[in-house]
Amino acid sequence: MKLLVLLLLLTVSACTATHSSLYQQLGGKQKVAEIVDNFVYEIEYDTQILPYFEGSNIDRFKEKLSEQICSLSGGPCEYTGDSMAQVHTGMNITEAHFNRTVDLLINAMNKADVPHRLQNQLLAKLAPTRKEMLYL
Ligand code: HEM
Repeated sequence: MKLLVLLLLLTVSACTATHSSLYQQLGGKQKVAEIVDNFVYEIEYDTQILPYFEGSNIDRFKEKLSEQICSLSGGPCEYTGDSMAQVHTGMNITEAHFNRTVDLLINAMNKADVPHRLQNQLLAKLAPTRKEMLYL
């Protein structure tokens, strides 16, 4: 019985030791910065989405989006930007434009060599923001 408990404890601690956050698996701060840089590049060349960003402060966008990705993926960051509803209200974002933006993010992650398994995990964290910004 004691041996069983010991084995169980060892297994649990081994699992804890090898468990790493999505943020760590992605590659941390540097990889998140690369994804965000690529994403802005994709937006700059997209005639559907670029108009939304006319007059936006791109440095702020990069900083806040990086914080948001870091915090949602379990990294050591706090999101200090405005709420998704506050930011996107008044833009009247359509479903098609939301989907297009997600496609641009996927392009950005592909160009940063993010494995699809991790891409899907990150998208699953970001997807719930959808209901906070459509048609507002
Ligand atoms: C996965 C979906 C999305 C996420 C997670 C997201 C996240 C963010 C974040 C974190 C910011 C910065 C907030 C701040 O400055 O405090 C932001 C700003 C912005 N987003 Fe989104 N966004 C998403 C989708 C979209 C879509 C679909 C559009 C338009 C088609 C859009 C247009 C904008 C624009 C124009 C700004 C800059 C606003 C400004 O200049 O004040 N976003 N977004």
